[in-house]
Amino acid sequence: MLSGKKILIGITGSIAAYKIPFLVRNLIKEGAEVKIIMTPAATDFVSKLTLSTLSKNPVLIDLFDEQSWANHVMLGRWADLMLIAPLSCNTLSKMNSGQCDNLLIATYLSATCPVIIAPAMDEDMWHHQTTDDNLTAVQKRGCRVIPVEFGELASGLTGEGRMAEPETITNFLQSFFKDKDALIGKKALVTAGPTYEAIDPVRFIGNHSSGKMGYAIAEELADRGAEVTLVSGPVHVKTNNSSIEIIKTASAEEMHFACTSRNGFDITVMAAAVADYTPVETKEQKIKKTDDVINISFKKTKDILTELGAQKKEGQILVGFALETEHEEKNALKKLNEKKADLIVMNSLQEEGAGFGIDTNSVTLFYKNGNIQKTGMKSKKLIAKDIVDAISGLLK
Ligand code: CTP
Repeated sequence: MLSGKKILIGITGSIAAYKIPFLVRNLIKEGAEVKIIMTPAATDFVSKLTLSTLSKNPVLIDLFDEQSWANHVMLGRWADLMLIAPLSCNTLSKMNSGQCDNLLIATYLSATCPVIIAPAMDEDMWHHQTTDDNLTAVQKRGCRVIPVEFGELASGLTGEGRMAEPETITNFLQSFFKDKDALIGKKALVTAGPTYEAIDPVRFIGNHSSGKMGYAIAEELADRGAEVTLVSGPVHVKTNNSSIEIIKTASAEEMHFACTSRNGFDITVMAAAVADYTPVETKEQKIKKTDDVINISFKKTKDILTELGAQKKEGQILVGFALETEHEEKNALKKLNEKKADLIVMNSLQEEGAGFGIDTNSVTLFYKNGNIQKTGMKSKKLIAKDIVDAISGLLK
C-alpha cells in the first residue's frame, strides 16, 4: 500500500521522537520513500545520523543547511503526504498562527500535499483549551489527526497524550492512501456555480451560488484519483488542481449541453444552482428605461439532473443537490425519487453558517436506501470529504 509513496516526516521537540526511527524503518520496509525535517528542538531527542541512515536521505533542520538553501516549497511539492510526528504543543500553535521561524513550519505552510499530524503532549497540556482550539483550527484547514493514546507519560503521570505507536501510525497512513487512491480509474462529472440567463446584452437573471461547494467536491474526487470534468457556471473561485478539466458555461442551456454531450461517467455530482426558468426572448438591444413597468416572460429550462437520471446506467452514481427553504425533508426525498438520484445533498438556508458564498456549510445526505446522514457545521472542504466518502461507499 505504501510502495512508491513519498512521505515527508516533520519531527518536533518531544520525547516521543525516540519512536520515529522505528516508524521510518516500517515505512521503508513497506516501500515508501522517506525524507525528514527536524525542528532544532527535536535534535535533543533523536539523532540526525540515525534518521538519515534509516531513511537513506539527508535530514534537514535549518532553512540554510550546510551553506545551501533548503527549498521548502519543493519539499512540500515532492511529498505525497506530510506527516508531523510527534507534534508538540509549540509547533501546533505555530501551525495555527502561521509563525514561520523554522524549516518545518516553512515547509508546512507551503505544502500542497495532505498533512497528517500525530500529537504528543502531557495530559494537562493536551486538555488545555488553547491546544483544543489550535487543533480544531488546523483540522478545519484539512489536517488529519492520528488520535493520541492513553498510557504512561513523560511526566510520570498516566493519562491521555501519548503519541500513537509506530505500528498505529503506519496503519493510519496505509488506510489514508487506500482511501486516497480509491477512485483511480473512475470518471467523474461535477457541476458548480450559478447560471446566468440573459435578458438583453447587458443584463441577466442569476443567483447567489459561489461555486465553492462544487469546486471542493471536484477537488476531493481528483485528490482520490478520479478523472474529473468540472462544468462551471460564472464564478470567482479557482482550483489549483491542474488535473481537473474545466468547462466554462454561462446559461442553463450551455450547462445542459456541456453535461449531456459527454458520457461514460461513473460519478456525476450536480452541485450547480441551475436556473429553472429563462427569458422566453433575449432582447438584441439594451432595454431602454421608457415604461414604468416591464414584464418579462420566462420558460422552463431543461432539468439536467432529471435527464441524466433517466439515462443512468447500472453502476453509475448520480448525486443531486437540493436547496430548500421549507418542508426540507419532504422536498429532498421528492427530488431523490423523481430525479432517480442515488444521493441528495440537502442545503438548508435556515442554519447560520450554511449557504451561499461562505466557507462553511451543514448538509443532510438522503440515500436511496432510506438512510439519512447529517454532517454538522464544518468547512466546505470537509463537507466535500463527507460527500465523497458517501459516493465511495455507494460505489462499493
Ligand atoms: N438541476 C438541474 N437542472 C435544472 C435545475 C436543477 O440539473 N434545470 C439540479 C441541480 O443541480 C440540483 C437539483 O437539480 O442538483 C435540484 O435543484 P433545486 O434547484 O434544488 O431543485 P429544482 O429541481 O430546480 O426544484 P425547485 O426549484 O422547485 O425546488
